[in-house]
Amino acid sequence: MHARVFRGTPANLVRLARALQRGELVAVPTETVYGLAANALSPRACEAIFQAKGRPSNDPLIVHIHRLAQLDALAHRNAAVGPLARAFWPGPLTLVLPKKAVVPGIVTSGLPSVAIRMPAHRVFRALLKLCGLPLAAPSANPFGYVSPTSPAHVLDGLGTKIRHILDGGPASIGLESTILDIRDPRRPAILRPGAISAADIGRVLGVRVRSPARKNTGAGVAADGPVCNPLGCKPGATGAMPASASPAAIAPGMLTKHYSPRLPLTLHKSLTLAQALALPRDEAALLLRRPRRAAPDNVFWLSEAGGLDEAARNLFAKLRALDVPSPRRKRLHVALAPGRSALALAINDRLTRAAAKR
Ligand code: TXA
Ligand code: MG
Repeated sequence: MHARVFRGTPANLVRLARALQRGELVAVPTETVYGLAANALSPRACEAIFQAKGRPSNDPLIVHIHRLAQLDALAHRNAAVGPLARAFWPGPLTLVLPKKAVVPGIVTSGLPSVAIRMPAHRVFRALLKLCGLPLAAPSANPFGYVSPTSPAHVLDGLGTKIRHILDGGPASIGLESTILDIRDPRRPAILRPGAISAADIGRVLGVRVRSPARKNTGAGVAADGPVCNPLGCKPGATGAMPASASPAAIAPGMLTKHYSPRLPLTLHKSLTLAQALALPRDEAALLLRRPRRAAPDNVFWLSEAGGLDEAARNLFAKLRALDVPSPRRKRLHVALAPGRSALALAINDRLTRAAAKR
């Protein structure tokens, strides 16, 4: 099998909508990362997603919709859903709600809840509308590897496993959606940090939103010391439940080790050009911003001027481009994003997982 990349022309959208209706997989563009989509109501189609990704069955999928009425067919709504949908949909927010019986167990890994998102990407929305189905879609990468933000990334990881990739250009946000557990509207909890912050959500709901990343994202990382997971997991304790967080505040599948390049990665609280220059030549440095002085060819950067929008958009693409193990490249060094903004917490969540020990 070899994947073909389709531009989002009307004829191609019709063709891909039919493929989805037949139960086939289509990689789709979203504003966060590329997803691997299938009919969420078909256990067989969803089984193919797990197969293609090599994803364990205990890691549930997000279901994508293009209008709010679709949510009511899939999940039990509460008073928080309307205001959240008005404020943030379409966009990078996923809501976890009690599921209805129509959602197959394979989608939710047997959980009584389902994660639902209305994406903003124009081309993906057109496809959702045409096929008329809710689409289950995890990120379109082999399980555990760095998430894809372009059709080339999808081809690279899944090119021999799937047949259709819909090209919607590079992802504009570049990090996966914020996941919010809103089963109890009085006690909303962020399960995965993304571009929409706990404060943004709290303002809409008028309640405090719990956020696992609040505790220490980045704060547990010494200049060259051990890495501490934002959820409080021990590095390497893949899948283990952190002692410091309640089970309710954890999304299944949010493993300590995730988003991982092949090369070992060392996280730094900050990384200056001077520090980068002191690294061995067979180790590469990924700085937050372009250095003012000329840099050697083992020094790279996420943004021109330190803007976190740009850094988030580039993060996965840069990690992939640098992830070419060779005698000339044995390790990556990356700087954490400064501050406690939504994007800083989300970037640092992904970097911390990427750096966790195998
Ligand atoms: O931005 C995104 O959310 C992207 C695009 C494609 O929409 N999707 C994405 O999917 O990141 P994925 O599969 O890489 O991450 C989905 C995560 C699961 O690993 C799990 O942590 C959480 O969503 N999740 C799904 N269903 C859940 C549920 N019922 N309860 C709690 N967490 C759930
Ligand atoms: Mg993923």
